[in-house]
Amino acid sequence: MTIRHFLDLWPLESADLRAILDEARRMKKARAGWTKGRIDPGAPLDGHTLAMIFEKASTRTRFSFDMAMRQLGGSSITATSSDMQLGRGETIEDTARVLSRYVDAVMIRANDHTDIETFAEASGVPVINGLSDRSHPCQIMADLMTLEENGVTLKGARLAWVGDGNNVCASFIHAAPKFGFSLAIGTPSRYAPDEDDLEIATELQGRVELFDTAEDAVAGADVVIADTFVSMGDLDAELRLEVLEPFAVTEELMELANGGARFLHCLPAHRGEEVDAEIIDGPASLVWDEAENRLHAQKAILRWCLQK
Ligand code: CP
Ligand code: NVA
Repeated sequence: MTIRHFLDLWPLESADLRAILDEARRMKKARAGWTKGRIDPGAPLDGHTLAMIFEKASTRTRFSFDMAMRQLGGSSITATSSDMQLGRGETIEDTARVLSRYVDAVMIRANDHTDIETFAEASGVPVINGLSDRSHPCQIMADLMTLEENGVTLKGARLAWVGDGNNVCASFIHAAPKFGFSLAIGTPSRYAPDEDDLEIATELQGRVELFDTAEDAVAGADVVIADTFVSMGDLDAELRLEVLEPFAVTEELMELANGGARFLHCLPAHRGEEVDAEIIDGPASLVWDEAENRLHAQKAILRWCLQK
């Protein structure tokens, strides 16, 4: 049986991604009002364990994956790479072969995306990308679930990304052709998205447009999306804060979007940098549903990977 890894959205079938979102919403609804640790009916991942390896900090990814496994009737083990022999030079391939003998799936948050790919190639169990320097596919599944449950029809919607053309932006680029939304990206040229990601969108006939200003990107948008100006691992913080400042989401910028436009941010947020408090804490913001939906979306991703 082919191992189902979840490393990026672009190689996956639209129908599978659609089914994951539908299952996530179904499971969320089915446990409305329950205590958070209660196990879902049928304990779909009973007897299954997820290993989680973190090379960088995490709040949402760590807690939501752990709770996802608990709610599905399974369990998880978390380690930082520096706790492991990986941090002392054991190869990624040997680590993958050994962990595959202990656990049923592995989630990795890595500095270098190719390390996750290397792990997956040597792994005998599904591997999930929990954020790399290049992409953050689990986040975008939660984001799209959040938009749909708040009444946004993805097919034909106009989403605007403003700020750094980073890892989270890349996964939105990969998702655009899969779900049929258009993506307007406003970034300074220095922090534009990677050419490779734009080529993927072109090959898959995604509607992705680049703009030099936040204003042009946001004009006519149904959804405005921001992320931190300084991602984990970025070494040029001072320059980024200066160059990206005109791309902050302010009340004036949101007024250029369509009436009733919604705001997303994967968190952690920096009020007064990439977004004003009036927006992230105001009525357009969906960020708390978005954070919650990491849990539900990842439960559906885990079930898809494990074919349960
Ligand atoms: N959005 C997100 O991935 O958050 P964490 O870094 O806290 O996991
Ligand atoms: N772009 C951010 C996302 C954090 C969840 C980072 O990589 O640090």
